[in-house]
Amino acid sequence: MKKRIAIFASGSGSNAQKIMEHFKYSDTAEVALILSNNPESYVLQRADNFEIPSHVFDRHDFFQTDDIVKLLKNLNIDLIVLAGFLWLVPENLLKAFPNKIINIHPALLPKFGGKGMYGDRVHKAILEAKESEHGITIHFVNEHFDEGEVIYQAKFKVESGDTLEIIKFKGQQLEHLHYPKVIENLLKKYN
Ligand code: GRF
Repeated sequence: MKKRIAIFASGSGSNAQKIMEHFKYSDTAEVALILSNNPESYVLQRADNFEIPSHVFDRHDFFQTDDIVKLLKNLNIDLIVLAGFLWLVPENLLKAFPNKIINIHPALLPKFGGKGMYGDRVHKAILEAKESEHGITIHFVNEHFDEGEVIYQAKFKVESGDTLEIIKFKGQQLEHLHYPKVIENLLKKYN
C-alpha cells in the first residue's frame, strides 16, 4: 500500500511543489492532502494543478479543536510534512502522530532557529554573523520551534561577497533537492 503524505504550508509552496512532483508517479507514497492556514497561499493553486485536495483552516480549528487530527486520521495519513508552515504544532496533533511530523528549516540547526527565525531573517542573521557555512535542516517536530531530532542536513560554503539573495537561492536549491528524497527514505522505513 502506498504511504499517504499530508503537507502543511502557508506560503508559496515551492517545497510542496517539489514533493508533489516527486511522488506523482511513485509506488512508495502519494500526497493525499495539502493544508494551509492561509487562504491566499499559492500552495493552494499548486495543489489544484496536481488535482490534490486541499483544506484551509484557521487558528481556532487548529488550536482549539480536534478537527485537523480527525481529518488526517480519516484520510489515513502516514506522514505530516511541514513546508513553510509557521505555527507551533499543538499537543493533540503531536500525540496523534508521534515521530510522524517533520519540518524543513533554512539553516543548520541548532543555530539560527527558534521563534521568529524564518524566511529572510535567517539569511540576514547568517550574513551578519559572518558564518562561513550555511545550509538546511530536516528534523522531527516537537512542542518547541525547530528543536526536534535532526534527520538530515546539507551545507554549502558562504563565499565573501555573497548576498542574501545568493545564499537564499543556494539554500532553496538544497531544500528542493533533498526534502522529497528524505521523505521517501523515511517512508520506506515504515512498515
Ligand atoms: C523554506 O525555506 C523552508 O525552509 C521554510 O519555509 C520556506 C518555505 O518555502 N520552513 P516554500 O513555501 O516551500 O517556497
